[in-house]
Amino acid sequence: MDTAFDFLRNLLVQDRTFRRFDASRKIDDTTLQQLVELTRYCASGRNLQPLKYRLVSDEHELDLLFPTLKWAGYYSDWDGPEPAERPTAYLVQCLDTRYGENCLCDDGLQLQAITLGATALGLRCCIIKSFNLKEVSQRLQLLESMKPRYVVAIGYPAEEVVLEDMDGSEDASFKYYRDDQSRHHVPKRPLEELIIKR
Ligand SMILES: Cc1cc2nc3c(=O)[nH]c(=O)nc-3n(C[C@H](O)[C@H](O)[C@H](O)COP(=O)(O)O)c2cc1C
Repeated sequence: MDTAFDFLRNLLVQDRTFRRFDASRKIDDTTLQQLVELTRYCASGRNLQPLKYRLVSDEHELDLLFPTLKWAGYYSDWDGPEPAERPTAYLVQCLDTRYGENCLCDDGLQLQAITLGATALGLRCCIIKSFNLKEVSQRLQLLESMKPRYVVAIGYPAEEVVLEDMDGSEDASFKYYRDDQSRHHVPKRPLEELIIKR
């Protein structure tokens, strides 16, 4: 029987960034609320809990948000998913600046909880930092106090992602790439490289 550790490890392995989804499979607000609920249990610097989420799932808002996002910086000849492969939901993580201008690492902890939760539900995500902040705020009519920090694109996966070990050499590339069958490969540094020798 799998231990809790095996289960968590497997979920982390599955929890890859996806950028092509099945646009015909919708995601409802109840699912998005379930994902946001997970963030309540994340650690929070000073326990301030300053992050809030704008749920995006209706067709009109999906179309409004998409052009504000930048996909896959290393794929210079790809402008992001075609209409049939676009995400069917987004969570826009915002810092409620009434609590201050800093959220320490709360944002990352919560993003990971969301993507793990989505993966457990059979969904996949793309965490997006490259977006037009002003446009996102305007298009979603966010209050001035809500500062978007990340957009999480969510959908049912429609591509193959291959996790692979980077070779241990100095000049090994960390850049993800697509092969001739359009599979997305993600190189990860080997464990030995992450542990500082005594
Ligand atoms: C802080 C952060 C910002 C990111 N911003 C973007 C982004 O703007 N656009 C994008 O397509 N992917 C973005 N990604 C996804 C990364 O490219 C992806 O995590 C990386 O290639 C490793 O793949 P993996 O998530 O499958 O391990 C971001 C990821 C993180 C953690």
